[in-house]
Amino acid sequence: MRDTSAAPKISRNFLTVLDFEPSDLERCLALAAQVKADRSLGRQAPTAHALEGRHIAMLFEKASLRTRSTFEIAIRELGGNVIALQSDVALGQREPVADVARNLERWVDGVVIRTFKQEMLEAFAAAAPRLHVINALSDETHPCQALADMLTLTEQLGTLRGRTLAYVGDGNNVAVSLAHAAAMLGVHVHIASPEGYQIPHSAVQQATSVARFGARLRLFTDAADAVAGADAIYTDTWTSMGQEAEADVRRPVFEPYQVNDALMSLARPGALFMHCLPAHRGEEVTSEVFESTASVVFDQAENRLHCQKALLVMLVAEAR
Ligand code: CP
Repeated sequence: MRDTSAAPKISRNFLTVLDFEPSDLERCLALAAQVKADRSLGRQAPTAHALEGRHIAMLFEKASLRTRSTFEIAIRELGGNVIALQSDVALGQREPVADVARNLERWVDGVVIRTFKQEMLEAFAAAAPRLHVINALSDETHPCQALADMLTLTEQLGTLRGRTLAYVGDGNNVAVSLAHAAAMLGVHVHIASPEGYQIPHSAVQQATSVARFGARLRLFTDAADAVAGADAIYTDTWTSMGQEAEADVRRPVFEPYQVNDALMSLARPGALFMHCLPAHRGEEVTSEVFESTASVVFDQAENRLHCQKALLVMLVAEAR
């Protein structure tokens, strides 16, 4: 286990990227790279006992492959215990959210929650000040995904300052957290979305307020304008979880935003293709782009594990 006596104090919870100072984000990415390199050491890895004697509960109210699997593996590889809560906990229905939180803080050190409203996470954290609450996706943000995205970009591009990341599609939770993290690291962010589907104005203001090294966030309606000269093009599903009833309306609206070879050709030569997954081939991305050498989507998926290990070390293991 690392010597944590000199670890700077950070936010107790990770409900949004904005809970991190830029220096926390940089430290998390550096630690993630280190735990990735150390993984082959198994139980000899420096962080292999970081969560020994600690319990982390997981509560998922929406489907998940990557986030659930990588958090479970991360907790186990850090020597902690996973408490997999069932969805019949029914946050806010069987008993108040605050009561669920106040029970859990008597038993466990942290809780990883995937839910609908960001307010639910905030209420949970406010009711249980001894717990570390981690957002595993809400309707509004997906901060753990943004960590993996920034690590992947760093691996692929080296320094991030002054790079341009173009996000094409729905201004959803993934786009919001991506904008927060990229701006903090000095990455210019271009977001192309149809009218009515842009990221919330509050998220634009937040990203602008945390931007460093001259990073700019620009909104577009034309995908071609957004990707011109970009170092990476990122997209996500046109219909997020909970919006299934809107799928038929959304499909034609988003068709001009498909990431295909023609769109990729407008970006910088050698530009990356990124997607948080699951992907819908023939909708937001073509099979050709998804399977191309530009695609780093499975690096992003792998890096979920390493970043979440780093996050748990910083939030839970280093907590004093
Ligand atoms: N990208 C992502 O969060 O994947 P899951 O929904 O499978 O967890």
